[in-house]
Amino acid sequence: MNPAADHDHASLDAEGMDTATAYRLLCGVVAPRPVAWITTVDAHGLVNAAPFSSYNYVAHSPPMVAVNIGRRGRGLKDTARNIERSGEFVVNVATLDTLEPMHQSSAEYPPERSEAEALGLALLPGRWTAVPRIAVSPAHLECRLHAQLSLGPLNTLYIGRVLGFHLGRSVFDGRNVDTVKLQPVARLGGPHYAALGQIFERPVLQAPPGGLAPAAAAGPGPARADARREDPPR
Ligand SMILES: Cc1cc2nc3c(=O)[nH]c(=O)nc-3n(C[C@H](O)[C@H](O)[C@H](O)COP(=O)(O)O)c2cc1C
Repeated sequence: MNPAADHDHASLDAEGMDTATAYRLLCGVVAPRPVAWITTVDAHGLVNAAPFSSYNYVAHSPPMVAVNIGRRGRGLKDTARNIERSGEFVVNVATLDTLEPMHQSSAEYPPERSEAEALGLALLPGRWTAVPRIAVSPAHLECRLHAQLSLGPLNTLYIGRVLGFHLGRSVFDGRNVDTVKLQPVARLGGPHYAALGQIFERPVLQAPPGGLAPAAAAGPGPARADARREDPPR
């Protein structure tokens, strides 16, 4: 199949693109992004909190999440420094209710100033780590650093193994997390955030809708829609 001539897209070469442009385009295109409101502890026990949206889950067996933390000038951001020192962090899910303090905590507080203290955030103790959780957030992931990967001079990816989940009674029925009740906020490009919009449901598919074409049909046979909700991704 020959691709048609493209008159509808601006095509920009990323090779040699300046950092600010690449960042602006990525943040506009890779959206919405979940926001990890990360707590860490420094060498003196000071609790740091800051939001990060270059974040997602990256594995489920064992469960892992990853966050990309940029450098600040020539040094590390407090969160990155604390993760590298202690090997521990907590992801607190940022929600509509926590939008304001979460956003405030992105300001460049000096390392010796605790955002948790400055913003009056009530904390709960960690169970698997020494890192406190932010009480107002309805879901926390306690993580131990699994690996860190330098992604060029400005970015480092920190992969955390999830040691434990804390799920609030208002969002967890003992089996599923109710994402509508969770009310997560997402980061878009620029200074924008978003809340959940329309929600669509489709059955989980195990083969292409309509079945496989005859040449490829030796395998699993006709399409089967499977609506089990808890299937892990294949
Ligand atoms: C919603 C939001 C998402 C952010 N995502 C990231 C990110 O993914 N990576 C990053 O390095 N900084 C990100 N920032 C900026 C950091 O929060 C900011 O640099 C903060 O001061 C870091 O704090 P710390 O020095 O206490 O770690 C984000 C800011 C906001 C408001």
